[in-house]
Amino acid sequence: MATTKQRNLAAIITASRREDATPALTAARRATAARVAVADANLAAAKRIAKVSTREVAKAGSHAVLIVPDAHFPFNDQAATDLVVKIAELVRPARIVSLGDTLEAAAWTCHAPRSIPEEAVHKFSLEVEQAGAWIDRVRSAARTEPSWAYLEGNHEAHVERECLRLGSIGRAISDLVSPKNLLMRGRPWMTWTPYVQESNPDRRAPTSRSSLGLSHHKITTDLYAIHGWSLAKNFAQKNLELLRNASVCSGHAHRVQSVTERDPVSGKLLHSWSPGCLSLLQPAWAHIGGPTLWSHAISVVFCEDACLTKSDPKWTPYTISISRGECTLPGGTSIRV
Ligand SMILES: [Fe+2]
Repeated sequence: MATTKQRNLAAIITASRREDATPALTAARRATAARVAVADANLAAAKRIAKVSTREVAKAGSHAVLIVPDAHFPFNDQAATDLVVKIAELVRPARIVSLGDTLEAAAWTCHAPRSIPEEAVHKFSLEVEQAGAWIDRVRSAARTEPSWAYLEGNHEAHVERECLRLGSIGRAISDLVSPKNLLMRGRPWMTWTPYVQESNPDRRAPTSRSSLGLSHHKITTDLYAIHGWSLAKNFAQKNLELLRNASVCSGHAHRVQSVTERDPVSGKLLHSWSPGCLSLLQPAWAHIGGPTLWSHAISVVFCEDACLTKSDPKWTPYTISISRGECTLPGGTSIRV
């Protein structure tokens, strides 16, 4: 139903269009023109707002890949993991890559609980339930039905290690507690890269090897996602030195770090970076040793659509720092939870 203001404006517009308009209506015409100018300005502002809500999306011929680091459910940072859902909603990635340690696997790790409250959340079913629900939230927020490439981290791998340590009983129940089995169930869009790939066909003698011999997921033909090879102070540099002629994105260290070098022969840029973590920044088990230098972030890589077939594809990485539940996306949109 029209408001009084709208009815008055309509009456003025109608009057201003009458062919027998009198000089007495001149003032009304001026008022109408002013109001129309205001309405036009409001429309332009609305269009700008609409543009803000979509300008984070990849342009035609390219797509976005969302890279999410270690969340360590149930020791995730609630604001950071909630913000990832909003980021997925705005960026609308075609692919999502998680870098491992999405689960803490607390009861299976060497990080013994240091308090009764901490031990109370060491319930594996709770971790799997929370992580799975978050994965589903992030993916459905994207509205693009993205694939989800799950790189297993050392924490998920602890489950299998402990099953082996338990002997025949552990091996007998390993399929019941396998993070891969528990998280992939009902999620046909998820692929799994194990932490240790003993049977990887790439693990051949160097003379016949055509690709990396270690566990990895290819984001493009020349960009590898790994859980992490190094916890060194300059781990990003170390990863680049190890990989030599390709780019790499890693988790594991929980610190935001990047280094870019240029191949002096080809001029190609080689990137090595980590988007930090989405976990608590000072978990109870890390209280010994002083404050951590961890921080929250995720990465978005805009890739040309042929990035998995071309040998030298175009792609651009952005790391989005998350500070106290707030971040600004590559297109300039600021969001918070
Ligand atoms: Fe981790």
